[in-house]
Amino acid sequence: MSDNKVLIFDTTLRDGEQSPGATMTHDEKLEIAGMLDDMGVDIIEAGFPIASEGDFAAVSEIAKNSVNSRICGLARANFADIDRCWEAVKHAKQNRIHTFIGTSPLHRAIPNLTQDEMADKIHQTVTHARNLCDNVQWSPMDATRTEWDYLCRVIEIAIKAGATTINIPDTVGYTAPAESADLIKRLIKTVPGADDVIFATHCHNDLGMATANSLAAVAGGARQIECTINGLGERAGNTALEEVVMALKTRHDIMPWTTGIDTTKIMAISRRVSTVSGFLVQPNKAIVGKNAFAHESGIHQDGMLKNRENFEIMRPEDVGLSGTSLPLGKHSGRAALRDKLEQLGFEVGDNQLKDIFVRFKELADRKKEVFDDDVVALVRADSGEDEDDRLQLVSMKVVCGTGGPAESTIEMEVDGKDMSATSEGDGPVDATFKAIRQIHPNTARLQLYQVSAVTEGTDAQATVSVRLEEDGVIATGQSANTDTVVASAKAYIHALNRLLVRRDKVGEGADAKEVSYKDLA
Ligand code: KIV
Ligand code: ZN
Repeated sequence: MSDNKVLIFDTTLRDGEQSPGATMTHDEKLEIAGMLDDMGVDIIEAGFPIASEGDFAAVSEIAKNSVNSRICGLARANFADIDRCWEAVKHAKQNRIHTFIGTSPLHRAIPNLTQDEMADKIHQTVTHARNLCDNVQWSPMDATRTEWDYLCRVIEIAIKAGATTINIPDTVGYTAPAESADLIKRLIKTVPGADDVIFATHCHNDLGMATANSLAAVAGGARQIECTINGLGERAGNTALEEVVMALKTRHDIMPWTTGIDTTKIMAISRRVSTVSGFLVQPNKAIVGKNAFAHESGIHQDGMLKNRENFEIMRPEDVGLSGTSLPLGKHSGRAALRDKLEQLGFEVGDNQLKDIFVRFKELADRKKEVFDDDVVALVRADSGEDEDDRLQLVSMKVVCGTGGPAESTIEMEVDGKDMSATSEGDGPVDATFKAIRQIHPNTARLQLYQVSAVTEGTDAQATVSVRLEEDGVIATGQSANTDTVVASAKAYIHALNRLLVRRDKVGEGADAKEVSYKDLA
C-alpha cells in the first residue's frame, strides 16, 4: 500500500445501525453493502454477528456477495464472539475479525478486570482471532481516555498476538484535533512493532469534531479512517464518510492523502441510507445536505453565474449531483425519467420504472416542474409501499377544524379485509393516526415524527418519517406526497407494517439484538 493511501472502513451497517431507530432489514443491509463495495470502500464492517441471528445472517450474506471490499465483523473479547464472527466473515474473499475491549479506567470497571487480567485477556483473544483469520483488527475502546502507559502496553500485546490493524477509538467524542494527531504520532513512535501494523482512527461526533479529529489522526500517521454514510451512528454519530473523503479530495494541496472512493457515488448512497434508516439528512449538512450546493441569495447567484468558483469549492458532479439539471415535466417520457434516475444513482428494473413513471405522470400533472428531489421522493414512496404489506391505505378524507378538533376518516385493507374508522384529533395528523389505531389497535409509541419539504413552493413534496417502538422493537416508516397528511398516514402505516414484520421475526428469534456490544459482563 502506498504511504499516501488512506483506507476507508465503513461501519454504517454496524456502528451506524446501532443508533436507536436506525435498524435496517436484511435486504436493505445487503443493498447498502453492495453500494459500499461498488463505490470503493476498502473495508465494510457488516455487523456484529453474535448480536442476533439476523446480524449473523446479514454479515454472512454480505461476505458471500462481496466483490472488492474486505468484509469485517465485530466481536467482543471472548472466544464465542470471535468464533461466531469468523463463521460469518469466512465466506468473503477478503475478511477481517474486529475484536475490542474497553481499556479506560471507566470501561475496565465494567467487567471488573485489573490491568493485568485485561492484558491477559487481550493476548488470548487476539491470538485466538489470529488463529482463525489472517487479518485481525483490535480496538482499545475509549482509547482517548485510557492512561498513556497502559494504552501503549495493551497495543504492544495486541500487535505481538498478531493484530494487523490497531484502531484507536474516540468512543465518546472527547478528543480534539491537535490531541488526536499527537496521540497517533506518539503511539507509532513509542509502541514496539507499530511500524508493522496499520493504525486506524474511529471518531464520534459528540463535540462536532469527528471529521477534524479523523483528518488530524491521518496527519499523525493513521492510514485507516472509520466512518459512516451521513455520519449515522450512536448519539451525535460517527465521522461522516462523505466529509473525510471530500475533504481529502478538495484540499489535497494541504492533505496529500488519497482514498479509493468513487466520489460520484456519494449522493446516491447518502439518499439510500437516509431512506432505509429513516434518518433524514439535515438540509445544511456538509456535502450531502439539500442546500450544500444551493445558492439562494442574489449576490451569490450573480457570483455563481459569473464564475462558479466564486462560491463553490467542489463540483456538484464530483459527489454525484447532476450539475445542470434538465427539468422534467408532464411532457417528459420514460427515457428521460430513466436517465434522471440513473443520474441520481437509482438502478431500477423495467417493472419498477413502470410504477414510478405512473406516479411521475400523476405528479407532473399537479406540478409545473418535477425536480430531482421530487424524483427521489417518488422512488422512496415506491419502495415504501410494499404490496405484501398487511396494512394498506385505501382512501382518506380529512376535515380540518377551525377552533375545533380535526376529523379524519380512513379506509384501509387489513390482511385483505376492508375496514374504516373516523376519529377526531388535535389537528389532522393526530386525528389520522387515531383513526388508523382504531382500525389496527396497537401499543406502539411514536418516538419520532418528522416532516421535511423536499421541494420548494406550495406544491412541494413532503417527506414524512415516523419511528415507532413497541416492546423494545423499533421500526421506521417513510412516505412522500404533495399532501403532508397523506404522507403522514402512509409513513405511519409503513412503520406499522415494518413493526409487524420485525415482531414476527423477533418471535422466531431472528432479529432481536440479544446482546449489546457494550454489554461486556
Ligand atoms: O466507538 C467505539 O469505541 C466502537 C468500538 C467497538 C470500536 O465503536
Ligand atoms: Zn464507535
